[in-house]
Amino acid sequence: MNNIVLCGFMGCGKSTVGKNLARKSGRKFVDMDTYIEEKAGMTVSEIFEKHGENGFRDMEHEVCLELAEMNELVIASGGGAFTFERNVNAFKNKDIIVFLDVPLEVIKNRLKNDKTRPLLQRPDRDKAMKELFDKRYPIYKKAADIVVAGQHTPLKTAYQVMDIVESRKK
Ligand code: S3P
Repeated sequence: MNNIVLCGFMGCGKSTVGKNLARKSGRKFVDMDTYIEEKAGMTVSEIFEKHGENGFRDMEHEVCLELAEMNELVIASGGGAFTFERNVNAFKNKDIIVFLDVPLEVIKNRLKNDKTRPLLQRPDRDKAMKELFDKRYPIYKKAADIVVAGQHTPLKTAYQVMDIVESRKK
């Protein structure tokens, strides 16, 4: 069984949908950021602080290569991972890449009290978020094999992804 890899903007529900999807599809769940944190022995914020964003992106790429070697996983990627072609290429021919498409306003609301995402810790947060969202949106779409509207409950979205993945097999 190949991997299902969820991509999309921060707060689109990759981890919560991913956990449900893993249970429903009989795959093991891996959260890419948690995996990076365990390997590095520090949080994503600490990695950004100590090694900068580039240092984080290198670790992220290493983890993409490692996970792409495995099978039977549901992977919740980090929000930036699939904006890099080298990471898309790691999974593209083997696994199913799913973009969870959630409107920016929903995401903004979900992340309004979040302190864990270094890219959003800035005074002009709303403006920066919109710019990043607009820039990344077409990139996620291009990277994905499947686009699913992800603003419903995580369980409902997981079922939607399952249905599409199953129908593609036939
Ligand atoms: C990032 C998203 C985060 C995390 C890091 C960078 C991004 O993951 O990888 O803070 O560039 O969008 P989530 O999408 O799980 O928040």
